Amino acid sequence: MEKFVSIENVGMTFDTKKGKFVALRDVNLGIRQGEFVSLIGHSGCGKSTLLNLIAGLTLPTTGAMICAGREIPGPGPERAVVFQNHSLLPWLTCFENVYLAVERVFSETETRVQLKARTQSVLELVGLAHAMHKYPGEISGGMKQRVGIARALAMEPKVLLMDEPFGALDALTRARLQDELMAICEKTQATTVMVTHDVDEAVLLSDRIVMMTNGPAATIGEVLEVKLPRPRDRLSLTQNADYMAYRSAVIEFLYTKQSHPLAA
Ligand SMILES: Nc1ncnc2c1ncn2[C@@H]1O[C@H](COP(=O)(O)OP(=O)(O)OP(=O)(O)O)[C@@H](O)[C@H]1O
Ligand SMILES: [Mg+2]
Repeated sequence: MEKFVSIENVGMTFDTKKGKFVALRDVNLGIRQGEFVSLIGHSGCGKSTLLNLIAGLTLPTTGAMICAGREIPGPGPERAVVFQNHSLLPWLTCFENVYLAVERVFSETETRVQLKARTQSVLELVGLAHAMHKYPGEISGGMKQRVGIARALAMEPKVLLMDEPFGALDALTRARLQDELMAICEKTQATTVMVTHDVDEAVLLSDRIVMMTNGPAATIGEVLEVKLPRPRDRLSLTQNADYMAYRSAVIEFLYTKQSHPLAA
């Protein structure tokens, strides 16, 4: 397997007022180019910590984080992050929020007309053509989340990182955005790592589901390869025996093998 992102013997220890806290230990994972990987595990097990390490927002205490053959030196536009709370600037329109990121990445090589065209096309990709000149305060939570995804995609990242991107949304909006995300990933072939609590979301979207043990000193417990053919259709999958088996395997891990977050 050719690894595009490689996490090698990674450990993360935080210095806290009460002393050292070992959040992650011995984490090893390789991610192929174009692969969609979900991180799932109980609250506090270290999913965001691991995602932040791939983003370069924090550096590991031990081990190595490699992306495209180089050690990850810090945050960068080639590894864009979508946060749960969409973090848009309220005084800028949706278009301007995305344009800001586009300008940061491409202003040295492209004209203003090209930057604007790039911004517009990515907002169209996430279905926001009609609302691009509205302010964040004028649009719904689902639309804000789409702006956050558009902003990340606009940077043409090598790796798209998402920390519970749909966690704050109602079930119907969440389902729609999951379908859109699958279509976008199919089109852009982005390598994607998504943190989620949602078993169905993980099975529907992923090529592999990485299941983490409980902390402290959390690590990868099991990795499940999801071999459902793409494109995937949520309605027909509800009748699919393989889908049910994948779903059961994740539930079994979370609620039987790792049922007590403080017992690890
Ligand atoms: N900067 C920090 N300093 C000290 N401890 C931290 C820091 N960041 C995270 N931790 C601890 O590391 C552990 C993992 O936290 P993390 O946020 O990665 O969990 P998570 O799996 O994303 O949880 P959730 O599902 O609730 O978002 C927790 O015990 C948390 O308290
Ligand atoms: Mg988290």
